[in-house]
Amino acid sequence: MGRVIDARSLVHEYPDGTRALDVVSLAIDDGESVAVVGPNGSGKSTLQLALGGLIDPTAGTVEFFGETTDADAVRERLGVLLQDPDDYLFNTTVREDIAYGPAQLGMSRERADERVAALAETLGLTDLLDRPPFRLSGGEKQRAAVASVLAFDPDVLLLDEPLGAVDATYRERILTLLDEHDGATVVFTPTLDVVPEVAERVVLVDTDGTIAADGDVRSVLTDRELLESVGLRPPATVRLFEDVLPPAEIPLTVDAGRRYLREK
Ligand SMILES: Nc1ncnc2c1ncn2[C@@H]1O[C@H](COP(=O)(O)OP(=O)(O)O)[C@@H](O)[C@H]1O
Ligand SMILES: [Mg+2]
Repeated sequence: MGRVIDARSLVHEYPDGTRALDVVSLAIDDGESVAVVGPNGSGKSTLQLALGGLIDPTAGTVEFFGETTDADAVRERLGVLLQDPDDYLFNTTVREDIAYGPAQLGMSRERADERVAALAETLGLTDLLDRPPFRLSGGEKQRAAVASVLAFDPDVLLLDEPLGAVDATYRERILTLLDEHDGATVVFTPTLDVVPEVAERVVLVDTDGTIAADGDVRSVLTDRELLESVGLRPPATVRLFEDVLPPAEIPLTVDAGRRYLREK
């Protein structure tokens, strides 16, 4: 499939004059897993809206699958999770919300039911399927929203903070689902600690709506100066080991850190 998203020189200015993206170019290939990180208000959500074709950028273009700049023509191939799960859950029951995408795509009733059941099982929603979505907790809503995006098996996943309200067990399960997902994944995540678990590449967005860095996870996460320049700090394991080990050897996750200490 090659290139799935090719964003060129995006600028986005909201009607009140806020410039959320200031000339951003970003190309994402099939199978890539990219984390977009940055401080509050840096433009991560705006970037995702642009990459998912849900806003018309003030300037610049986004090409999808090397084919078209018309997002609506490829809507069923883009799985976009907006920051607020309430934007997804609008049917009478959780079951209908998760089955909505598959139904829109004309998936057979049988296959759709199977997918709903499997996702509900993995994400702990089985007993909640017949409940109205507004009667779910924050974390349950987020899990249901993730299920509704994964249900129609899109070619690319654009997930804005999919883990925010989710506890450790389901966080792991969502990460596993993303790992198993065949295709490009862009995860938007607020915490740097989770990045090495989800991505190989990090795009660091600065407060002025520019890209401060776009590189492999290790080089970005071990660069304290770079992270501090945008108001972030390195993940916990990096802070723990940074004066002890050279950047190439610093464990990036707690598990890797534990392995290092055990083998030492
Ligand atoms: N609808 C809007 N109208 C005006 N400004 C907005 C709107 N949405 C976001 N912004 C502003 O655009 C900038 C980027 O916002 P956003 O993309 O939500 O950042 P992030 O997701 O990184 O926190 C911020 O300064 C924010 O206040
Ligand atoms: Mg955001």
